[in-house]
Amino acid sequence: MSAEIVERVLRSPRYRDVDRALLTRLADEELPRSRGTDDAVKRVKRRLHQAVGAFRGRRAADPLPEAIRDAWTGNLSDPAFRAASADAMRAHASTRERIPLLDELYPAVWSVTGLPSSLMDLGCGLNPLTLPWMGLASDARYLASDVDRRPLAAVAAFLELVDQPGAVEVRDLVAAPPTDAADVALLFKLVTTLDRQDRNAASRLLETLAVRHAVITFPVRSLGGRGRGMERTYRARLDELMAGVDRVRDVTEVAVSGELVMVAELDG
Ligand SMILES: C[S@@+](CC[C@H](N)C(=O)[O-])C[C@H]1O[C@@H](n2cnc3c(N)ncnc32)[C@H](O)[C@@H]1O
Repeated sequence: MSAEIVERVLRSPRYRDVDRALLTRLADEELPRSRGTDDAVKRVKRRLHQAVGAFRGRRAADPLPEAIRDAWTGNLSDPAFRAASADAMRAHASTRERIPLLDELYPAVWSVTGLPSSLMDLGCGLNPLTLPWMGLASDARYLASDVDRRPLAAVAAFLELVDQPGAVEVRDLVAAPPTDAADVALLFKLVTTLDRQDRNAASRLLETLAVRHAVITFPVRSLGGRGRGMERTYRARLDELMAGVDRVRDVTEVAVSGELVMVAELDG
């Protein structure tokens, strides 16, 4: 029965690029709650919209805009290449919000973690396109994963273009946390997404990640009104998460405007 639901969801052009393992998990969860197959398909699509659909752009013939290829001169900090990369990030609603913070974000994060020689970007969306602001060594290893093949196709083409070593993989972080090791893991705006799928997924991930530092962020839209209430909710969630993971040795907040950024230092 779950298989039938998965096949029907995969027929929708909107979701055919999504990891089959995620579809199967959601179908297994929604089937017992639903009134028949049609209802189950609807429920799975609703969950997929929350997990994936709300953030991503349209499928393009070429995953990487021509403008990025044209702007590549072999230098990541070239202003024209940065501008083309920033433009491409606009295709992912979540990564797009980070564009104004890029100059300050990574220097502030690395001042806590040290400059990583290997990096894991989890539920990455188009965040690997912020590599031109990261200042990593040209031989630093970049491991990017997501459940959505659409941004991953752009990420793979981007890392290949700039010749950054690494790997890009489709991975459901709820069911299969990564086993690779790295200096730092980025969990950018991921906890809220995982919480909607499984309230224990984020803590399981932090318990098992083979990294020394995890950088966990939450969106903070505005400093007034609703934004402040949201920030309080996210801070409370972070406190709960950090208190529930035994390996957390220290937590440092990184001051950047527009995103709540915390670095957790983890025991080995
Ligand atoms: C809020 S967006 C954040 C994207 C990116 N980290 C950023 O901040 O620019 C959440 C991302 O998590 C991905 N995602 C959702 N569920 C996931 C899962 N179970 N495993 C891995 N990635 C997932 C989505 O496809 C989406 O790209």
